[in-house]
Amino acid sequence: MMPKNILIVGASKGIGAELVSQFSTIKSMHVIALARDIESGNNWSKKVNVSAHNFDLTSLSMKEELSTILSKYSQIDYVVNNAGLLVNKAFLELTEKDIQTSYDVNVIGVMKSLQIVLPKMFTSGGHIVNISSMGGFQGTVKFSGLSTYSSSKAALVNLTEMLAEEFKDSKVKFNCLCLGAVQTEMLEKAFPGYQAPISATKMAEYIVDFTLKAFNWINGKIIPVSLSTP
Ligand SMILES: NC(=O)c1ccc[n+]([C@@H]2O[C@H](COP(=O)([O-])OP(=O)(O)OC[C@H]3O[C@@H](n4cnc5c(N)ncnc54)[C@H](OP(=O)(O)O)[C@@H]3O)[C@@H](O)[C@H]2O)c1
Repeated sequence: MMPKNILIVGASKGIGAELVSQFSTIKSMHVIALARDIESGNNWSKKVNVSAHNFDLTSLSMKEELSTILSKYSQIDYVVNNAGLLVNKAFLELTEKDIQTSYDVNVIGVMKSLQIVLPKMFTSGGHIVNISSMGGFQGTVKFSGLSTYSSSKAALVNLTEMLAEEFKDSKVKFNCLCLGAVQTEMLEKAFPGYQAPISATKMAEYIVDFTLKAFNWINGKIIPVSLSTP
């Protein structure tokens, strides 16, 4: 039987590294793991069903690079767009680079990647899971300093709904998870000393299960996954 191919963008640390570990325990899956510094202590090359590649969502040639990486796969079954960049800075102090890079990683890079990946999903169908944040979910508690992060994550929420509509006649499903606080490097840098109520391992367990099953019931849905902020 052909393995099911899953692409994980943002797979070097935190929740993304946990996703690679957990998906790779499923023998029938092949994991394509991408990040700027994908090996950073991970030793993915030791796992037979993981292909790890350095990949930067902000690179001007990212579409060509992704095409090359995916050229040996005729079909992609699942995608988790997990990469994220959090800039915590007063709005008036944000530089053009802060804003541009945040949007490049959190939403524009996702759009450009999906332009390459989607054609490889139409024949067999598949599930695209976008990882957003409670900060990008309308009506939640907001945190000062996160304007570029939360607004770009809100754009990812809307993008999910738009793609589900545009591709509703295809066999590809799109859903978005808005995560609450998870104990990772990103959270520790943004809010030093804050203790999240859930680990990256535990959050990844939910995302793995959701990715493999939820598309049977839902499409175009935005789901809060949070033990913390309302
Ligand atoms: N932790 C939380 O409390 C929390 C809450 C809500 C939502 N989230 C979301 O959950 C996702 C995972 O977060 P995390 O906490 O695990 O963060 P993390 O530990 O900082 O990991 C982020 C991942 O994104 C990758 N990445 C960043 N910039 C990239 C770029 N330019 N190109 C390619 N990959 C890039 C990083 O790899 P490299 O640095 O090697 O490129 C890393 O693998 C993010 O989308 C985040 O916004 C997290």
